[in-house]
Amino acid sequence: MDTMSQDLNLVSEVTKMGIEECKIIELPRIVDSRGNLTFIENNKHIPFEIKRVYYLYDVPGGEKRGGHAHKNLQQLLIAASGSFDVIVDDGYNKKRFHLNRSYYGLYIPTMIWREMDNFSSGSVCLVLASDFYSEDDYIRDYEEFLKEVRV
Ligand code: TYD
Repeated sequence: MDTMSQDLNLVSEVTKMGIEECKIIELPRIVDSRGNLTFIENNKHIPFEIKRVYYLYDVPGGEKRGGHAHKNLQQLLIAASGSFDVIVDDGYNKKRFHLNRSYYGLYIPTMIWREMDNFSSGSVCLVLASDFYSEDDYIRDYEEFLKEVRV
């Protein structure tokens, strides 16, 4: 069983609301000897309308990204190239996902604290987001996040 399948099994065993909504979505894949192709269509392969796309790249070895939650934003994170880990946290439980395939996306709903580390050299983290950038949507203080989710 590969790491991704183990993650899927572990997620399905968690019963509390929140972190179990973070799930791996397998995206369509056109396998071709000339090179593979994956596509994503609005509201069809992912549970939200895409309003923004951004990507992280040239991440130095040992560096971490994320370290925040979003009040209203939903996202799908894809290792478009290379690999990295995403740690999701609903204020009660944490789970580490290792993303290393271009046809898997990690869906992260609202109000989930996320951190990303273990970036491989040359990795690219492609992010599809349900809304435009707004700093007001971020919770960047972990204690504030805990207060919000532990009500
Ligand atoms: P941030 O979301 O904190 O990065 P990450 O979670 O990947 O570590 O964003 C880093 C900076 O980039 C921050 O100053 C906000 C800015 N930014 C934009 O201007 N537009 C965007 O769409 C994003 C995602 C970030």
